[in-house]
Amino acid sequence: MKQQLESILNSALAEIEVAKTSEDIENIKLNYLSRKGTLNSIKKNLKDLSVEDKRIVGSLANEVAQTLESKLAEKSSEIYRIELAAKLESEKIDVTLTGSAHQVGRVNPLTSTINEIVEIFQGLGFSVMANENSPECETEYVNFDMLNFPPDHPAKDMQDTFYTNVAPNVILRSQTSGAQIREMFTSKPPIRVICPGRVYRCESVSARKNNLFHQIEGLLIDNNITFGDLKGVLNEFIRIYFGEARPTRFRNSFFPFTEPSAEVDVQCIMCGGKGCRVCSGTGWLEILGAGMVDVNVLKNVGIDPEVYSGFAFGMGVERLAMLKYAIDDIRLFFNNDVRFLKQF
Ligand code: DAH
Repeated sequence: MKQQLESILNSALAEIEVAKTSEDIENIKLNYLSRKGTLNSIKKNLKDLSVEDKRIVGSLANEVAQTLESKLAEKSSEIYRIELAAKLESEKIDVTLTGSAHQVGRVNPLTSTINEIVEIFQGLGFSVMANENSPECETEYVNFDMLNFPPDHPAKDMQDTFYTNVAPNVILRSQTSGAQIREMFTSKPPIRVICPGRVYRCESVSARKNNLFHQIEGLLIDNNITFGDLKGVLNEFIRIYFGEARPTRFRNSFFPFTEPSAEVDVQCIMCGGKGCRVCSGTGWLEILGAGMVDVNVLKNVGIDPEVYSGFAFGMGVERLAMLKYAIDDIRLFFNNDVRFLKQF
């Protein structure tokens, strides 16, 4: 048995000597040291020996196992180093090569401004109007007549409104206020909605005006709604949106569909109120029109003005974004100049 063990040791050492891969090492372990390996089969036969022989052969077998294990470990780390070096060589990366940078898209500042405003009003209990109540291609009837515009109102003039050739009275909406009408036709008070959307005006384009821009319309109808509620909601909106105190003013105004009517101005951020090109020297920029919904409008849509009252507002998204980010030309939003868009 002693001889047998010696020959096992020698042949294993010879195999270890010529092993080239970690797979070879695994095979040697399997053949000699595993439960079914050669050494173990010798240990199994120990039971037939005398006590004295058992001791001698047993400890010899253990010695052989230990020698093999340490030789295997040695060889295996040597092979590991060689294999690793080969792998590193074959997968070499030249970190000095110039990379190909990926341009990451951004949300257009108008979209993010709309999202932000919508979230603020949602926080104040308003929900966003269904799309079908807010078409961009609108009838004169909804865009003007139902909103109490007299038939000869100058806003209906071809010079202000884009008419289409779809049908004689179909226009590109000049304001989102028509959505109020559609909402009041399709739902009953209490109503508390906002409606973001695109509007179109046949105007000459300048730093302050584009013929496509965005508005967010708001409408609240319920019992006992007062002008105080309107002021409260709008002041709260301004406070949250600008996140800091900005001088604002409520000015009285006129809209055919509200009575009384008001406009809200925010101090021009570009000049700090001193007066500049953007605010036409006034120091103020108008951000919205608002008012108490006119009794005639409520009657037009079949809401009893004796029972219900409400307020409405329409704000200019571009104006609000310009004031927040100190953007001095409305055309920047639409030119898709990456140098501009990248800043947001
Ligand atoms: N539609 C108006 C505009 O485009 C803004 C406006 C004023 C909307 C008063 C309203 C409102 O809802 O009540 O100038």
